[in-house]
Amino acid sequence: MTDTTAASRRNFLGFLAGSPLLMAAGLDRHVLKDLTGSNARRTAAALTEAQKAMQDASLISKASQALNVFDFEPVAKKNVPVAHWAYMATGTDDDATIKANREGFDRWSLKPRRLVDVSKIDASVTLYGHKYPTPIVINPVGSQKAFHPEGELAVARAAKAKNHLQVLSTVATTSIEDIIAARGGTAWFQLYHQTDWALTKQMVQRAEKAGAAAVVFTVDLNGGSNRETMIRGARADTRTCTNCHAGGAPIPGMQGVSDRDNRRKPNLVGYRDDPPIPEVGTPTWEFIDRLKQTVTTMKVMVKGIVTQEDAELAVARGVDGLFVSNHGGRAENSLRATITSLPEVIAGTQGRITVVCDGGFRRGTDVFKAMALGANSAGIGRPYIWGLGAFGQEGVEMVLQLLRKEFELVMKQMGTVNIAAIDRRYITPRV
Ligand SMILES: Cc1cc2nc3c(=O)[nH]c(=O)nc-3n(C[C@H](O)[C@H](O)[C@H](O)COP(=O)(O)O)c2cc1C
Repeated sequence: MTDTTAASRRNFLGFLAGSPLLMAAGLDRHVLKDLTGSNARRTAAALTEAQKAMQDASLISKASQALNVFDFEPVAKKNVPVAHWAYMATGTDDDATIKANREGFDRWSLKPRRLVDVSKIDASVTLYGHKYPTPIVINPVGSQKAFHPEGELAVARAAKAKNHLQVLSTVATTSIEDIIAARGGTAWFQLYHQTDWALTKQMVQRAEKAGAAAVVFTVDLNGGSNRETMIRGARADTRTCTNCHAGGAPIPGMQGVSDRDNRRKPNLVGYRDDPPIPEVGTPTWEFIDRLKQTVTTMKVMVKGIVTQEDAELAVARGVDGLFVSNHGGRAENSLRATITSLPEVIAGTQGRITVVCDGGFRRGTDVFKAMALGANSAGIGRPYIWGLGAFGQEGVEMVLQLLRKEFELVMKQMGTVNIAAIDRRYITPRV
């Protein structure tokens, strides 16, 4: 090393040692001292520590810098108000089912086959007559303008750019008509029933008229859920919630929701004032019969099924598809991963109806495991909300692109050239 190089290196290390970023990253003061010390070995070790600390502390500044979907989470957290963040991040009780969903994937190992020609693979799936390039579905998430001013519209544009299926929530901040226009193709409409059947019926028929291909009836919140993280986040937020939420957010089965309360929930407003037909209790399988027989010709799916018994009942009732879902750990704190529930649901459906599995999907390997266990598709919730909160449409597009890239990579590594080729032989319980 020349004198000049050594001097500029010392200067640089001195600058690094004084950097507030390193202090903020919590780097030990001995490490800071070693950076400018004369012991080459200790300086090198300190530099490695400093680099690690700076990487940990840094956030991506562009969607294109993301290496995986997790890179969007801290950026979105920085951008999104604390109450809205907590609404997204919350599970129930102590949030343990969110963790369980992720851990479920670790209980399966992959069994790659070698020497298969994987120069060309096809990851596409066909769902109710529509072809998509991957099995990754954009799941319904309510109130997306809480995360970015363009909310569900940005997601619809990303879905169009990457050709993904989008499922719109009843409590979306964008109407089903606007979503289908922005997507430039069909979407699915997720249904939270209303306590007035006359209103529920109008909502479903409106979605059908708008061009939705399926109604996804969510059944996992009928007893309510205890979302403590959400409440703590709302308490920590200093803004005045009632500026936006006049009478509180509408929840499934809420009584007497007025248009004023719902001015940010366009799928819940603008209906005829038909004579009310109050529900006598929370929905049962009879509700599905009513939907299928008297309301809609759309495909009727049920979201929130996690047992073989319910899967068998659904098939017997003529349900067209299921979402194996625990609402992303936001329903009951079951501690049971959806990927663990999937095999018994598949045992109940036996390939007769479409099955989407969601909950904790963050990696291409997660999607592969669900396909191997018999799902037709894998739904994502929070990852694309992280992308949305971080960089709007561009962030959502990058989340979809990264998951697709990872999934196609694992398909190739496993020697599976198309979705039909992926089955139980490619995974095994982890020992
Ligand atoms: C903030 C948030 C809002 C959600 N809103 C709805 C909704 O309106 N309707 C619904 O059926 N599911 C809703 N879900 C559940 C998702 O559709 C999906 O089941 C879940 O997010 C998947 O788990 P993941 O977030 O770990 O990917 C919501 C999830 C989150 C995180």
